[in-house]
Amino acid sequence: MSEATNAKRRAGEKSVEYIEDGMTVGLGTGSTAYHMVARLGERVREGLRVRCVPTSRRTEEQARALGIPLVTFAEVRQLDLTIDGADEIGPDLALIKGGGGALLREKLVAAASRRFIIIADAGKRVAALGQFPLPVEVVPFAWEVTTRRVAKVVGVEPSMRRAGADAYLTDNGNYILDCACGEITDPVRMERELKLLPGVVESGLFVRMADLAILAAEDGELEILERRA
Ligand code: A5P
Repeated sequence: MSEATNAKRRAGEKSVEYIEDGMTVGLGTGSTAYHMVARLGERVREGLRVRCVPTSRRTEEQARALGIPLVTFAEVRQLDLTIDGADEIGPDLALIKGGGGALLREKLVAAASRRFIIIADAGKRVAALGQFPLPVEVVPFAWEVTTRRVAKVVGVEPSMRRAGADAYLTDNGNYILDCACGEITDPVRMERELKLLPGVVESGLFVRMADLAILAAEDGELEILERRA
C-alpha cells in the first residue's frame, strides 16, 4: 500500500470511532471514504447497529456488499453524522468537493446531518481554496448557456468533464463543469453567485458545513481540526 493510500486508510478508519450504536450515518464517496465504509462494515459484523444513507451508487454498492443497513430519506429526516472525503480543505474547514462527481448527493446528505466529519490525507489542506478545479453540476439542457454564465462568476472558461468521448454523467443524470479558477478569495460569495444561476444544480464549495476534519500525514500521524467560525 502506498503512503498516500495508507494515510487515507488511517483517516477513514479513525473516523469510524465517532460512530455510535444506533446512529443514522451518511456515507461519503471517494477513495478515502472507501476505507471508512470498509471499517464500518467490520464494525457492523461485530454487532454495531447503524442505519446509513450512501452519497453515491458506488458507495451504495460497497455498503450493500458489506451488509451495512441502508435507508432512504423516505425513512429518516435527519442523520446523526456524515463522514466524507474532500478534494481541498481550506481555512475554517471550507471545502472543495466533487472530484468524484458525487457533490450533489454529498451536499444533500451533509446538510441533513447534525455533524459532518471530513477525512483526508494531510496534503489536501490548503491556505486558500482553488488549486483544485471547482466542480459545478449543471443540467444538460442548455448547458452551453449555463457554461457561459458560470464562466462569468468563476473568471475562467470551465471545462466540461468527460468520460472518454462522452460527457461524464453524474448519478443524477447531470453534467459537471470543472472550473480551474485559481485562488478563491471569497468562497461564500462565489457559492451564492453560482447557486443563483439557472441551470446550476450544485457547486462543489462546501462552506461552514464541516465540523471536524481528520487529516492523516504520510507517516501515519493524525491531526484533528475543528471549525471555529
Ligand atoms: C466525491 O464526489 C468527492 O467529493 C470526494 O469526496 C472527494 O473527491 C475526495 O475523494 P478522495 O478521497 O478519493 O480523494
